[in-house]
Amino acid sequence: EDLLSGPKPLAGMTAVVTSGPTHEPIDPVRYIANRSSGKQGHAIAAALARLGAEVTLVSGPVTIADPAGVRTQHVERAEEMRDAVLSALPADIAVMVAAVADWRVASSAGQKIKKQPGEAPPPLELAENPDILKTVGHHAQRPRLVVGFAAETQNVEENGRSKLERKGADLIVANDVSPETGIMGGDRNRVKLISRDGVEAWPDLSKDEVAERLALWIATQIG
Ligand code: CTP
Ligand code: CA
Repeated sequence: EDLLSGPKPLAGMTAVVTSGPTHEPIDPVRYIANRSSGKQGHAIAAALARLGAEVTLVSGPVTIADPAGVRTQHVERAEEMRDAVLSALPADIAVMVAAVADWRVASSAGQKIKKQPGEAPPPLELAENPDILKTVGHHAQRPRLVVGFAAETQNVEENGRSKLERKGADLIVANDVSPETGIMGGDRNRVKLISRDGVEAWPDLSKDEVAERLALWIATQIG
């Protein structure tokens, strides 16, 4: 069954989607990153495009291919991702799926840091990265529909609900990414949709199916 064939309810609309991790350099050869394959975010970008939206995908470093029918912009760091997302505004829809590194190295080294025999490891001073979802959710050019994700290992609903409020989102797609769920890096996802109308728990689905259903959910909200 192809849920996205047929009419194009998002024709004439624009969307910006983030996907993948960010890499925050320590020096030219080392970085800090979150775990993320980009599979879910890329699938959502493709699904929105199939429903007719003009989609800009801002992707961190991933090994998967750029999705068809989407303008993909590749970035490395959270600050670059933020700049690319803001450049894509105004947009009708924002879906922030990226696993953005919460911290960057306060001043990354221009040269490779060398081990010094007999000396302690170098300390890393961190600085907080911009919260891209929160920036978009409170922006003067706020999209009509702002969707975030919440990858949690405990208290999924409670944490999702507080992210909905704090970040000014219309919807948080929350999932349990505890290692035993196998969601990180896998092809399946089990999510809860948290909005101001309540919570909707979806069954275990492929990441492509989650993307299709979410694109249709977005179309019913905004169409
Ligand atoms: N997000 C973002 N920019 C950040 C951090 C998070 O845009 N610097 C977005 C993610 O893309 C996701 C949502 O915010 O849509 C929730 O991300 P998450 O890491 O779960 O939330 P945090 O606010 O960083 O909280 P914590 O990691 O402490 O749970
Ligand atoms: Ca985080």
